[in-house]
Amino acid sequence: MAQSESRLAGRELTLAYEKRVIAEGLSVDIPDHSFTVVVGPNACGKSTLLRALSRTLKPTAGQVLLDGQSIATLPAKQVARTLGLLPQSSIAPDGITVAELVSRGRYPHQGVLRQWSAEDERVVAGAMADTGVADLAERPVDELSGGQRQRVWIAMALAQQTPLLLLDEPTTYLDIAHQVEVLDLCARLHREQGRTLVAVLHDLNQAARYATHLIALRDGRLVAAGAPQDVVTAELVEEVFRLPCRVIPDPETGTPLVVPAANRRAAARS
Ligand SMILES: Nc1ncnc2c1ncn2[C@@H]1O[C@H](COP(=O)(O)OP(=O)(O)OP(=O)(O)O)[C@@H](O)[C@H]1O
Ligand SMILES: [Mg+2]
Repeated sequence: MAQSESRLAGRELTLAYEKRVIAEGLSVDIPDHSFTVVVGPNACGKSTLLRALSRTLKPTAGQVLLDGQSIATLPAKQVARTLGLLPQSSIAPDGITVAELVSRGRYPHQGVLRQWSAEDERVVAGAMADTGVADLAERPVDELSGGQRQRVWIAMALAQQTPLLLLDEPTTYLDIAHQVEVLDLCARLHREQGRTLVAVLHDLNQAARYATHLIALRDGRLVAAGAPQDVVTAELVEEVFRLPCRVIPDPETGTPLVVPAANRRAAARS
């Protein structure tokens, strides 16, 4: 069996929806204990990649390896205990409360002999506290604002307590303070608990600040992967997003800060 360096990797993946091929021969490595951020233009295949990595989408060719084994062959519960996915958009069951939804994150830990426990209760309360939704516990999810709802879904993903966590645009819908709060929380999970996180983000500057490993995609192809300092250059941003820009050091952190050119036509000619 093909062995992989990291717990999670995609090997020579062809990803398609019926006849529509999104990616071919795509290989990615998710370094263990990294905070990996996936960036790229709309429709380049970021969500498709996360679906494949979480076994939500079956590759047409190639394989996803989890702990060195093809993820397709592993029991569903084992995958659910190892890897959590927060999809880009999720719809809560009608009338479900925040506490009930977050509690569903504990399902993979339940079993015939293992009923709801004080530990489950503690984990659910912790996940709600960490995402700032404890006050909303008894509210129906469908009555919340977009940002509140997003944080509830993150809480559910956290309650799964998986060593690997994939988050598809966790900061969309959030105001800037809550964006930073969620990213700080991710950084803490990665730093203090050694969890491996993969997040899709659109804000390159946040990506450069928080990522320990950056993956840049365009048209289903891997354009670059590595440390943000090495990956985020003006050339790369131009190639991936077709956006002329300057990259300067972030005054707070020294990480790359992307400043789009004011006169893009002139920049494109130069
Ligand atoms: N369920 C589906 N059926 C058919 N085509 C799909 C499906 N989901 C996505 N696609 C197509 O696959 C391509 C990649 O979509 P994907 O959602 O992976 O992009 P993305 O990089 O996540 O974009 P965004 O930044 O807008 O979220 C797009 O062309 C999209 O139209
Ligand atoms: Mg997407």
